[in-house]
Amino acid sequence: MSARERKFFVGGNWKMNGDTASINGIIEFMKPENLSDDSEVVVSPPTCYLQYVRQKLPVSIGVAAQNCYKAEKGAFTGEVSPLMLKDIGVNWVILGHSERRNIFGESDELVGEKVGFALSKGMRVIACIGELLSEREAGKTEAVVARQLKAIADNVSNWSDVVVAYEPVWAIGTGKTATPEQAQEVHASLRKTLSSISSQIGAQTRIIYGGSVNAGNCRSLAAMSDIDGFLVGGASLKPDFVTIVNAQD
Ligand code: 13P
Repeated sequence: MSARERKFFVGGNWKMNGDTASINGIIEFMKPENLSDDSEVVVSPPTCYLQYVRQKLPVSIGVAAQNCYKAEKGAFTGEVSPLMLKDIGVNWVILGHSERRNIFGESDELVGEKVGFALSKGMRVIACIGELLSEREAGKTEAVVARQLKAIADNVSNWSDVVVAYEPVWAIGTGKTATPEQAQEVHASLRKTLSSISSQIGAQTRIIYGGSVNAGNCRSLAAMSDIDGFLVGGASLKPDFVTIVNAQD
């Protein structure tokens, strides 16, 4: 199966950015007629804007939370549950983002548990992995992402609800993108790991790249055979996001 047989997937991770006025601006440029039918598009606003964005965007565009907890409800101050997200029409969640791992101390184990719980409640998951600069420099990239992927895979039974996002930490928000070849090398090794679960899972699971993707570099990254789309941070707040969604046209 070639990259193009897996539907191209572009996520916009707004992180902790935006207000009602700027979000209205994003909704304006995210008109479905601007976006290729060959791309699946999901945007991820901050929690407090999820319902607003879900109500404003057409159903052809997915909406993702940036996190959720591994319980239905209860005494977990500051958290949201997958059931609450589904209740407001939000069916996607980003889990294991490097900022959750590195700023908020989420372990591989917790990320895996959250992925398993969210899937069990019918959510679809963008599961993030990626190595630190020090790990890359120590030649540990493949081992690190394999370890992170295993902690996730141990909790997944239905891979059709999972998109794997490879985001090298040193490329996030730094303007330092992985070269297409660097990204392709890791994506190919991740696909090999997925193929060892089953050849179908390897062939069908989308592996997207994140880290300083912009309107200028998206086409050369999209041309790589194992890069099935992007998870975009900063550029997803700007009309450049439309160019990135349409990178394979
Ligand atoms: P940037 O595109 O701003 O580098 O962020 C990438 C990212 O972390 C997306 O989840």
